[in-house]
Formats: sequence, C-alpha cells, structure tokens
Amino acid sequence: MGKYTFEQDFEGWKEFSALPIHERLPLFFREGRIYDVLFSQQFDRAFLDALYVLTNRIRRIAKSREGMLWLHGLHAHQRAMLYFVQPSTRTFLSFLNACHILGFHTSEIRDPQTSSEIKGESPEDSIRTFSSYVDLIIMRHPKEGFAEKTAWLLNVFSDRPVPVINAGSGRDQHPTQALLDVYTLQRSFEDRGGIDGKVIAMVGDLKRGRTVRSLSYLMKNYREVRILYAAPPAFQIGEDIKEFLCSQGISFEEHDSLESVLPEADAVYMTRIQDEHDVQGESQSEYAEFSLRREHLERMKPTAVIMHPLPRRGEIDVMVDKDPRAMYWRQERNGMWTRCALISMIFGSDETILEEGERFLR
Ligand code: NCD
Repeated sequence: MGKYTFEQDFEGWKEFSALPIHERLPLFFREGRIYDVLFSQQFDRAFLDALYVLTNRIRRIAKSREGMLWLHGLHAHQRAMLYFVQPSTRTFLSFLNACHILGFHTSEIRDPQTSSEIKGESPEDSIRTFSSYVDLIIMRHPKEGFAEKTAWLLNVFSDRPVPVINAGSGRDQHPTQALLDVYTLQRSFEDRGGIDGKVIAMVGDLKRGRTVRSLSYLMKNYREVRILYAAPPAFQIGEDIKEFLCSQGISFEEHDSLESVLPEADAVYMTRIQDEHDVQGESQSEYAEFSLRREHLERMKPTAVIMHPLPRRGEIDVMVDKDPRAMYWRQERNGMWTRCALISMIFGSDETILEEGERFLR
C-alpha cells in the first residue's frame, strides 16, 4: 500500500456498513440487474442458472472468427479499469481477457507504488479517480470490505457511479471465483442432475482461504448438498460460515483428515495453505497431510472431480494432473468465460448475446 495509507471517513458509511447484509444488498442492484459484484450472498439460483447458459453461449460464439469479432463489438465503446494491488495471475488475466473478448479497452494498476497512493492519496480517492475515466472497475484489495466501501462510495457519494467487481477482498471473499467454481461443478455434473444432491469436500486452509468461504455461501442455492470440510483443526472453516449454513439448513461435517472425505465426495476442492497470513509460522508442516497424491485416486469415486482455485504448491501432486477427474486446468479456463458472462450481465448485453448471437452457433 502507499506510504501514507489512511482511511477516509465518509459520512454515512459507518451506519451503512453496520446494517445486516440483506439491507445492504439492494444498493448493489440497479433496474432489476446486478450492478456491483461484491459477495456471494448476492447470487440466487435463477442468476446462477442464467450465468451458466450465457457462459456456454459465449464459449460457443467465440469458437469462430466471425463470432469472436462480433463479441468484440459489443462493448468496444467502453473502458474497464483493473486495480489489482494484491498478487494475482489467473484472476487478473482472466478478467483482462474477458474484457478484451467483449471489446472493452482496459487500463490497470497492479502496484500502488506506481500510483499517486505513494504521494499519500487514499485508496478511496484513487478509485474515485478511476470512475472519472472508465465504465467498470475490477479490483483486488487486501482489505476486507474495501470493495464494498468503494461501491457504496461511488453509488452514494459520486455523481458518476461505476460498477465495481470484487476480484478478491483480503481473507473474506472471492465471489467471481465461486461463480466459476459452480460453473465448473455444474458442467461436470451436467449428466448427473447438476449440483443438487452432491457431496462437496473442501480441503486445506479453510479458515483463511476466501475461495471456500465464497463457494460455501453459494451452496444455499442447491438442494440437498452436503459439504465435508477437511482441514487441520487450526484451519477449519470459520464460525460465521457454519452459522450461515445452519441458518440455511445446509448439512456439513468437519473432518481432520483428507482420507476420510475422499470415498464419499463428488467433488474434492483442494486449497493452498495461506501462509502469507501467518503471524509466527503457524502453518508449519501439518499441511503435508492435506495433499492429494496418486495413491489417493483409487479411494475416490470414479465420477468425482478434483478442483483447485490455483495456484497450487504441494497440495496436488503433478501425477494427479493426468487423471481424467482432474478438473483444475479446465476450471481455470472456465474463469475467463464465466467472467465474460458476468460482465455482459452487468451491462445488459446478455440479452443481445442470447438473441442475436444465435446465428454464430454451428
Ligand atoms: C485464490 C485467491 O487468490 O484467493 N487464487 C485465485 O484467485 N485463483 C487462491 C489462493 O491464492 O490460494
């Protein structure tokens, strides 16, 4: 962050941020469509199903040169800003390429050392500056809740509201990762009744990993899903998520070994130990036990899928990559198409894609 990073205190923000989530949500929708994408609790089943259909449609249109060029024309008059001040490879590149597929012109800040934040400008003022130039802001920021604060700021304070997409907010949420994860699950289970009734195992650093948090919230949209959380006790899923699942009647179990969840799982979602959040090396070596190796494969269902938001380290052995159940590289590619669909829904080009895009299908 900038040398002088400070937080600005805008009148009304404290009161707004203290409201329960269902009272905050309406601010982030406009004219019946999603406007700011900040947390997984914003998505309902109808939205997820529509996103799935639209993602598949865009993938198919993009297969031909004519289709791709037509997609490029949809938003060629608009501009997007990528403000990624936390490390990112996939999320950044898939958003950048999704923007380019839809024709957006893009600009980026990836290091506040190269922006006026180094001169003492607040991140809030930086974001207001972007809104002077662009039609969409996609941001990854280490501070939990900062994406929501900026969306509120632009919606309430600014005279030029611009949609904000949260591409990862500290340890809290990563809603667009959850969207591509459910897209991948839905696609994998397409011939087996979709996600309803499936057993999803989430493994690794569940306490500090934002992807499993956002994915857990999305499970409320599916019937009779069961979640198996496998983690070292110190890294189990947070109480807030457990309370949410209980309030929604979603069944879940906590396990302290990978082996115990493998036989039952329809999806095994591996995650990395988030040791960048260690205060005094508490990640240690416990996590070796939570790594998926070739010998585990025979203990899994033949129809199961293995997922990972990536990047991986030791938690999936490369020998697993060749197994037909390994889905993580496809999952990574799905991210770009899902993000195309999401952006087109925000801007209302989804209807055009569904209606006029028909002619590019072979
Ligand atoms: C994840 C993230 O940044 O939270 N990566 C991603 O966006 N694909 C997972 C991680 O860093 O472990």
